[in-house]
Order: sequence, then C-alpha cells, then structure tokens
Amino acid sequence: MTSEQNAPTLDALEAAASDKFAWQWDAISIANQPFKLAVAADPDSMLIEACERQDAGEEGVIDPFWATTWRAAAGLDRFLDQVELQDVPVLELGCGTGHAGIAAMLRGAKVTLTDGVEDPLLLVRMSVWQQRDQCTVQRLRFGIDTLDDQSFPIILGSDVTYLRQLWPELDVCLRQHLTKGGRVLLSDPYRFIANEFREWIQKHDWHYTEHKVELADDPKHPIRVMELHDAK
Ligand SMILES: C[S@@+](CC[C@H](N)C(=O)[O-])C[C@H]1O[C@@H](n2cnc3c(N)ncnc32)[C@H](O)[C@@H]1O
Repeated sequence: MTSEQNAPTLDALEAAASDKFAWQWDAISIANQPFKLAVAADPDSMLIEACERQDAGEEGVIDPFWATTWRAAAGLDRFLDQVELQDVPVLELGCGTGHAGIAAMLRGAKVTLTDGVEDPLLLVRMSVWQQRDQCTVQRLRFGIDTLDDQSFPIILGSDVTYLRQLWPELDVCLRQHLTKGGRVLLSDPYRFIANEFREWIQKHDWHYTEHKVELADDPKHPIRVMELHDAK
C-alpha cells in the first residue's frame, strides 16, 4: 500500500469525493463475481459542464472521460478469463473507475491502478478499499510520470487510444513500464480512430495481434483487444 493510501479512512475518501462531485455505489459483475464499484452519479452532466467551461475559454479543463465506465473495460475483463494472473504484477493505465484493473485484481494479480487525473483515483481507492493490500492506486500521466524502476509483465488499457495526441506518450509509457517479453492488452469498441492507432503502433516497433470479445449485453457490438509485444 502507498503511504497516500495509508492515511485516509473510507469515510474520509467518501467525504472527499462528495465534496468534488456526485457519486454512487454501482453493483456490477467484475471477474464473474458481484462487486461494488464507486462511480460518478451523472457522467453526462459532468461532460457537458466541462465542454461549456472549455467553450467559455477556460484553460486546463480536463475532459471527465473517466466518469463513465466504458464497455471496453467489460470486454477486457472477459478477455482476462484466459490470462494467468495469480500473483502477477499488472499495471493499468488510464484506469478511470478501474473496472479492468479490478478485474485483474480479483483474479489474483498484484495491481497498480493509474490515471492521469486524480478525481477517478479517489473513487478507485474506495472501490478497492477491502483489497487495498493487494493493489496500489496512483497518478500516472503518459510520458510524464514514471513508477520508479517498476516494470510489469502485463499492462492493461481500456479505451485509452481515442485521441491521436495521446499515442506518442502512451508508447513512451508502455516502453518505460513493460517488462522485457511482457504483453500489453488494450481494448476498444472497434473505434475508427483505434483502427488508425493499430497501423501507427505497428510502425513503432510493436508486434500486434488482435482478439475479438463478444459481450452478452450486445453481441453485435464486440470489443477488440489489441495485444502488443515489444519488437525492438
Ligand atoms: C475513455 S476513458 C477510459 C476509462 C477506463 N479505462 C474505462 O474503460 O472505463 C480514458 C481514460 O484515460 C485517462 N487519460 C487520458 N489522458 C491521459 C494521460 N495523458 N495520461 C494518463 N491517463 C490519461 C482519462 O483520465 C480516462 O480515465
């Protein structure tokens, strides 16, 4: 556990989150078991408010894309059924509310959940409160922050390829944190922009394989899992 996690109680985390935005506990299934996930109560209005502030010329307003739990995370969760995770160190990048990293944690992995912004990490700390000895939660901005000398045989990212400008920083971050011979698993709902990422990343010295994951809620709209191995 980080010293940061040591300090607050669950009540204090809940109060800190309530000071910032409306949130709630969602009862969902993660890693095929019931799990209570702390989520933003009204992600749509948070997004609209951020857009309005940006339109009004305010600088440094961060899009709260973390506030929704994206379907790509459920797809990555399903894919992890076939990955051996017991005691394996796993890093999740751009975790948002943390569904994918928590899916690895519940399968026995030692998980570090990270995001570039602090607000979702508050919720993630609440969600993993009972398992806080098994995971670390901390801020990690692609290409800016590094986890000192730590490398991971598995790195997860759910819906983190949606912006072209993020790709070079994501590439740097993956190289900084992937153990030699390790695998990166990135999921997305077959976004157009992610098709472009698929071409781009293969030109940047990564071996690429693709997996399709069907989800019971909407089998016609599967999730893609991109698997990358360092080709350098
Ligand atoms: C579309 S959301 C996906 C959230 C979560 N993985 C999911 O699938 O529900 C993208 C996430 O990437 C994070 N992110 C965006 N830019 C980032 C950066 N430069 N460094 C780290 N995280 C970033 C956002 O804060 C957000 O949580």
